[in-house]
Amino acid sequence: MRVSARAHPNIALVKYWGKRDSERNLPAVGSISITLGDLWTDMHIDTDARADGLTVNGEQAESMMPRMSAALDQLFGTDRSRVSVTSESNFPVAAGLASSAAAFASLVVAATAASGKELSKDALANFAGSLSGSAARSLYDGFVELKNAGDRVAVRSIRDTESWPLSVVIAITASGPKPVGSGEAMEISRRTSPFYVRWVDEQGEDLARARDAIAARDFPALAETAEHNCLKMHSVMWSSRPPMVYWNAATLDCMHAVRRLRADGVNVFFTIDAGPQVKAVCSPEDVDRVRDALSKVEGVEDIMTSGLGSGAHLIE
Ligand code: PMV
Repeated sequence: MRVSARAHPNIALVKYWGKRDSERNLPAVGSISITLGDLWTDMHIDTDARADGLTVNGEQAESMMPRMSAALDQLFGTDRSRVSVTSESNFPVAAGLASSAAAFASLVVAATAASGKELSKDALANFAGSLSGSAARSLYDGFVELKNAGDRVAVRSIRDTESWPLSVVIAITASGPKPVGSGEAMEISRRTSPFYVRWVDEQGEDLARARDAIAARDFPALAETAEHNCLKMHSVMWSSRPPMVYWNAATLDCMHAVRRLRADGVNVFFTIDAGPQVKAVCSPEDVDRVRDALSKVEGVEDIMTSGLGSGAHLIE
């Protein structure tokens, strides 16, 4: 039997970095993201296969196998029949484009349906979050807030896609996999960065500012908070031992290009995750100007554009 689900990556505007419980993969801080509509991962689950297998964009993917098998054991039981998982994405994976969020969100939706179980969206979000923290947010539409709640996370959509239709222009500055995976990197930061405690302490303030800016559709306030929060997270990474610098020269040049556009009156701000790509969040009417400026930056290999989109769901 084949069951398929589609999920979209999400981009955090107030970011998750650090775990309060690494065993259960619970985040140290809350976060706020936007779910992208035009980038997608489709996950196909075929039960009664000869062996567990995972193919990502036509290639065997060993690194995700342990987390995937653990998820399947949880749903089907450890004496389950073997399951073959095939995923296809229309964007590069493992390059700081939140591919794991889309992968694990679509995996839990498809695999849960294939197991015949019915889980609430809250349970699916917690399940996805136990596999990849940011994946919990890809279950929801538009602007999404993840809060810590006891030994769980509580995730909800705080604004729909239609009432504030932002766009995201993504500048790809390098396409290989990242040097240190985010899970491992967060643990290094927690143990070694002198800024880590301050990062965790101040997150509530950034979340409140972003929540208010989103409620009021206040672009300049959201821009200020998101860039501050992004640079603070990267300061934690840079001040870890060993330091983790995900940027390259083009990353920095794109940041300057975005700030120049904003000084010229364009509604745009940048955010960067554990990778060298720059995501420029802007008003839909400014997409062409932002695309144009970023495509002129030396070292930018490709540009993708997306609007906001919906949470993970089953597909035919
Ligand atoms: O969910 P993970 O383990 O891939 O971590 C995501 C971390 C960041 O992308 C850097 C920030 C975030 O909130 O998405």
